[in-house]
Amino acid sequence: MKKRDFLTLSDLDRSEIEAVLTRAVEYKAGRAAGFGSNFLKGRTIGMIFNKPSTRTRVSFEVGIYEMGGRVVYMSDEQTHLSRSEPISHTARVLSRYLHALIIRTYEQAEIEEMAGSACLPVINALTDRHHPCQVLSDLFTVRERLGRLDGLKMAWIGDGYNMAHSWIQAATIMDFELRLAIPEGYGPDPDILDQARAKAGKPIVITRDPLEAARGAEVINTDVWASMGQEEEEAKRARDFSSYQVNSRLMAEAADGAMVLHCLPAHLGQEITEDVFEGPRSFVFDQAENRLHVQKALLEFLLNGPPCRPASRASERLSD
Ligand code: CP
Ligand code: NVA
Repeated sequence: MKKRDFLTLSDLDRSEIEAVLTRAVEYKAGRAAGFGSNFLKGRTIGMIFNKPSTRTRVSFEVGIYEMGGRVVYMSDEQTHLSRSEPISHTARVLSRYLHALIIRTYEQAEIEEMAGSACLPVINALTDRHHPCQVLSDLFTVRERLGRLDGLKMAWIGDGYNMAHSWIQAATIMDFELRLAIPEGYGPDPDILDQARAKAGKPIVITRDPLEAARGAEVINTDVWASMGQEEEEAKRARDFSSYQVNSRLMAEAADGAMVLHCLPAHLGQEITEDVFEGPRSFVFDQAENRLHVQKALLEFLLNGPPCRPASRASERLSD
């Protein structure tokens, strides 16, 4: 049995996602009732974060502590990765100490290389390309509120970046329709989109018209206009995205009772107006909380795999 990583949402199939979401329901109910878990007792999880984080870092750390585990938190700057120690060497060293590695960084290729050289599970805590932990958790939040995922119409309003990519992958695994309103020049990666369209059971539509995307949608989803690492583009993006705002006019097009999601942090008055963010259709804080429950279930799923058996010689592939 090969170790499992979670580098993109497509690393889990439908039945595995359903199992994780169902287990997360138990974790959520158990926490509310005061029950804990000792699943991670005696295990230590590494976290390498090269970008800021409030939700992902804290929800993973708290989740790991509540499961009886321990955390070592690092950034590249605090390791020899900043002094050109190869990722593959770092991966093999960390495999000797840790039981899983959670990474937030820029290039997807960095986490792929880490996962390929480590014999422990590697989890993507956000790259420029994907944010699978967030979208896995968002699937939970939608299912929790609307009771299902299949057959829904989901709208994405904004940037065709990491969050949009993970939603596009979600649409290939679950059976919902996805309409993305994205300004010209900010579209999703064509490879991700083409692969998804070839697999998805329902349409994945890209439009320049946010109202068209929102029409009849049960879920309205948005994200910042300028992501981490794009700070210098903020002014240009604010102009280019100005008509891609989740506001009451857009919500009027959505289905009755439509829910609004935003992975946060939010910029009120930019991608979402304050009245919608604070309004009755907004579930953004449930969404943030659910990261905790879903990631516990994800850790349990990934760490149920084979024990890490690091190879001694450089020529041996640790992940084989
Ligand atoms: N949604 C999300 O990933 O938030 P953080 O950047 O605070 O982790
Ligand atoms: N697209 C955003 C998501 C933040 C959780 C970013 O990458 O900054």
